[in-house]
Amino acid sequence: MSNAALSEAGGLQARPLTSVVGAEITGIDLGDVSDAHFAFVREAFDRFAGLLFRDQDLTPDQLVAFSRRFGDLDHAPVMENGRTAVPGLPEVYLVSNIKGSDGKEIGSLGSGEAVWHTDMSYLAAPPDISMLHAIEVPPAGGDTWLCGMNAAYQALPEDLKRRVEGLRIKHDGTYNSGGYVRQGVTPTDDPRESPGTYHPVVIAHPHTGQPLLYLGRRRMAHIEGLGLAESEALLDELWSYATQEKSAYRHNWRIGDVLMWDNRATMHRRDPFDASARRLMRRTQVKGATKPVAYTG
Ligand code: SIN
Repeated sequence: MSNAALSEAGGLQARPLTSVVGAEITGIDLGDVSDAHFAFVREAFDRFAGLLFRDQDLTPDQLVAFSRRFGDLDHAPVMENGRTAVPGLPEVYLVSNIKGSDGKEIGSLGSGEAVWHTDMSYLAAPPDISMLHAIEVPPAGGDTWLCGMNAAYQALPEDLKRRVEGLRIKHDGTYNSGGYVRQGVTPTDDPRESPGTYHPVVIAHPHTGQPLLYLGRRRMAHIEGLGLAESEALLDELWSYATQEKSAYRHNWRIGDVLMWDNRATMHRRDPFDASARRLMRRTQVKGATKPVAYTG
């Protein structure tokens, strides 16, 4: 991003959060984003793959309007409580452990750990972008981590890069990142038989063309054509390059934070937190414009 672009965008700044993933954008109100500011944000997003905006006082409609600048939005998936969406706001999904007056949690994922994953990669065209807006945060825990999948690819030894050329991973659709079985799915122990979609192990970023290691989630993954033991060993090896905490960004939430990530260029996870504390995030999801396409160099 050039200095000219910085000044043209009227005082916006992008401050890298780690050496491989994420930047904080300052000087912007996401409730009122000019075209010039949006161009800056779009460019920063392709470069850093994750963006943080602090102190955003947004209505759910404003969150939806900002999210829509990036593309069509998915309707919120069915939550663990069996509800499909926030009434009147079909694009807003709640991530929350708070219980409503009926005693049921009002959102998804509870207070436990959410393991490293890419959102909904069991679909043929997984969502391109996810965005969280913090409404209530616990006093401790519940941090969200991002890791960069271009850096993960670059970290692979050359022989491993060659070994995975042309291979595909089955992205399982049985469990969500909190370990909950998705609505309407009967679990099986054999990853070759579970519902899901095969995607290339290394994909090209749809905008930048960069190679990205595309792993989805570890549980019930399978590498096409390999026996279970060989598939597990290769998956373990690939995962060991992707989720090293020293190169990941750890986000400690404040109320009003908006964190968005590129679902192909990053993976994310969440720390557990005290179940008696309250955490509420509003989430939107930008539809996948394309299927993940293999990187061919
Ligand atoms: C998610 O995994 O999409 C939610 C992450 C979080 O709750 O911070």
